[in-house]
Amino acid sequence: MIKFADVIVDLQAGDTGKGKVAHSLCKSGDYTHVVRYNGGGNAGHTIYHNGKKIVTHFIPCGVLYGVKSIIGPGCVVHFPKLLKEINELVMNGIQVDGYLFIDKRAHIITESHIIEDYEDSKIGTTKTGNGPCYRDKYYRKGLRMESKRLHTSMMIDIYEELYGENEVSILFEGAQGFELDIDWGDYPYVTSSHCTVGSAILNGIPAKSIRKVFGIAKAYRTYVGSKNFEGDDLIFDKIRELGKEYGATTGRKRQINWFNLDDIIKAININGVTDLVINKIDILTELNIFKIYHENALYDFDNEEVFKYFIMYNIKSLCPTIENIIFSNNPHTIN
Ligand code: IMP
Ligand code: MG
Repeated sequence: MIKFADVIVDLQAGDTGKGKVAHSLCKSGDYTHVVRYNGGGNAGHTIYHNGKKIVTHFIPCGVLYGVKSIIGPGCVVHFPKLLKEINELVMNGIQVDGYLFIDKRAHIITESHIIEDYEDSKIGTTKTGNGPCYRDKYYRKGLRMESKRLHTSMMIDIYEELYGENEVSILFEGAQGFELDIDWGDYPYVTSSHCTVGSAILNGIPAKSIRKVFGIAKAYRTYVGSKNFEGDDLIFDKIRELGKEYGATTGRKRQINWFNLDDIIKAININGVTDLVINKIDILTELNIFKIYHENALYDFDNEEVFKYFIMYNIKSLCPTIENIIFSNNPHTIN
């Protein structure tokens, strides 16, 4: 039975450092399971594990710590790429066998989904077949894990796993982010899955079992895709270089813009975030430039302290669910 579930949600357009937070939380030993709740190979989580840089796309980070990890029913999976990712982990000395599972309801990304996705020019997708696969799922023409007879040792029924006799505590690891959510994002410049806390619940837990919601953001915004997102400021090139803002999946340049307080407040309130983590503050500190969009004005702050104070003051007064606000630097662990 479920003792509690914590959920990680990205409050911006992905690439805020969810992987880092998930990795730190797994280390705590608080969880018996990690569940990925949305997306597929479009995600790219960069994790620094025992001094090595590891990029995962499908595999939840619990595997790195010997925590049972499940690719949930809300996810889509491309098998050849998943196997490649498993191999890479194994080559890095990580035991995957016995720790990685896929719910039988997860959908399969086929080669034709990928080919079709390559034809996209409008959205600027990751060309991983994500959109066509979710379209087929909702059109009820999709292929689920259970209909593929291969690799059955990894296939489970998440209900049986989470609702047996043992008490389980789950970390839900999301992909993409609130600004890319199919309903809440800037449609059509969105991904094809839900990226909110609601998406975690859809993977098979009661809403009431949620203990904490970790909302992850960056001290500035980034976005990858076709729409024009980046402002004019020349400093954005420097932020991109210093923050290494290039896609983990596609290597594309991430467009940069200033932190938008109103969008973060909306994302916190809709997701019921309890613990807010704002990453990469050190990138702004190094360039000594701190700006925030708030109520259609761009505010310029003299130093890190007033920048943080402005964020904390507004969020604490406008977001009743918030319990903790953590500012974190680029290095890849949170203390
Ligand atoms: P798709 O998810 O590949 O269909 O891409 C839809 C949009 O979401 C594009 O703008 C992608 O660049 C963006 N996107 C998808 N996954 C990620 C991610 O993990 N990080 C950042 N952007 C993403
Ligand atoms: Mg990413």
